[in-house]
Amino acid sequence: MTTDSNQSIKIKGGKPLKGEITIRGAKNSIPKNMVAALLTDEPCQLSNISNIEDVRIVSEMVEALGGEVKFSDNKESLKISTQNLHEIQKENVDKFIGKSRIPVLFCGPLLHRLGKAVIPQLGGCNIGPRPINFHLDALKKMGAQVREEGCNLHLSAKKLTGCKINLGYPSVGATEQVLLTAVLAEGVTELSNAAIEPEILDLICLLQKMGAIISVDTDRVITINGVKKLHGFEHTAIPDRLEAASWACAAAATGGKIFIKNAQQIDMLTFLNKFRQIGGGFEISDEGITFWRENGHLLPIAIETDVHPGFMTDWQQPFTITLTQAHGVSIIHETVYEERFGYVNALNQMGAQIQLYKDCLGGKVCRFGQKNHLHSAVIAGATPLKGARVTIPDLRAGFSYVIAALVAEGESTIENIGIIKRGYENFMEKLVAVGADIEN
Ligand code: EPU
Repeated sequence: MTTDSNQSIKIKGGKPLKGEITIRGAKNSIPKNMVAALLTDEPCQLSNISNIEDVRIVSEMVEALGGEVKFSDNKESLKISTQNLHEIQKENVDKFIGKSRIPVLFCGPLLHRLGKAVIPQLGGCNIGPRPINFHLDALKKMGAQVREEGCNLHLSAKKLTGCKINLGYPSVGATEQVLLTAVLAEGVTELSNAAIEPEILDLICLLQKMGAIISVDTDRVITINGVKKLHGFEHTAIPDRLEAASWACAAAATGGKIFIKNAQQIDMLTFLNKFRQIGGGFEISDEGITFWRENGHLLPIAIETDVHPGFMTDWQQPFTITLTQAHGVSIIHETVYEERFGYVNALNQMGAQIQLYKDCLGGKVCRFGQKNHLHSAVIAGATPLKGARVTIPDLRAGFSYVIAALVAEGESTIENIGIIKRGYENFMEKLVAVGADIEN
């Protein structure tokens, strides 16, 4: 098995997944915690690290800026020191072009430390347009000058000042951008329509440890009182609730039973409710959560993805494939990304019956309603699936293809498996640990 993104695996389906999996720090949390370390010249320590690509990319970018990142021998914790931060060299910027979405979050810390920042063109999953207008509007309002040069962004600021910012949508990344910039800005920043995902609340906790003053008020308002200096931190990353939900879906879809060590109920309340409603069983302990399929049959449901505390858009794909095994018609209305159903064609080739619609199905009208986006899915089940050759288009869709192959009769070949390894640590090893029949 290699980690090349064009690597393929073969999966023989039909076996229920059974066993134990350990999840560690969240993919959508650790890299942002690492960026926060640039807000101080004191050493910072982060534990419960997952060995995933964004962690590697952020480490390399910190090093290219003159910082030091040292991993513990078991790679489960790291220390970052950025005492001698300097500008990134042109050839180093190019190395990071199109690799990740995290670099955009370096803006605030670099502007505070160096007065300028160069941000390589962003990468990330291909799940439709992913603009950064909220990020840039907020940075400009706080005093940054922004210009595009080639495909990269160049920013500069003599001083950053707190102000009132209202996001057009509770964007996770834009909320993090404002937090990481406002903590050291002069004066008070009042951010309204902010995202309040657990990963964001955890970042706020980390920033508070560093000396920041941030209050999370009612109605998605976050108030940040800028301080002059921040200190080093010791922090433990929160467990990955997206990985936990993905394996839970694999257990339900295959009729298996998986104990997910470190899965946390509090961050998964909405998922657990929906999982129970479709006939999934779970038991919660201090160590984690065990997931299985209750009574043989899965049931249909209508779901709308939403910002937290709603049903996460990243839970959508593993849940969709699970619903192909539910008896009856399910509806999923995707309201976070306008083009996050492209992956269902491959599932239909495997025997699923999923029809896409431009309308807002399921009750509520969303911001994509009057536009031309196929953002609602009707899933007729239960459908037997048959093995096929499929190519993974993005991270979460990739996991849903793997679940499909595990359910399907016969052998499937899944190409681009490396994309999954970007967000699921030790993915192949975990598949083997729960009894999947795989071969690379
Ligand atoms: N949006 C704008 N303008 C902006 C920013 C966002 O219009 O300036 C829109 C986006 O186009 C999208 C919506 O707002 O329609 C939500 O985007 P958001 O900014 O919240 O997403 P993100 O910060 O880019 C993170 C996760 C995603 C996850 C979303 C939503 C990371 C690295 N990525 O993305 O994770 O889907 O929040 O929860 O944290 C994944 O893990 O597979 C993944 C895609």
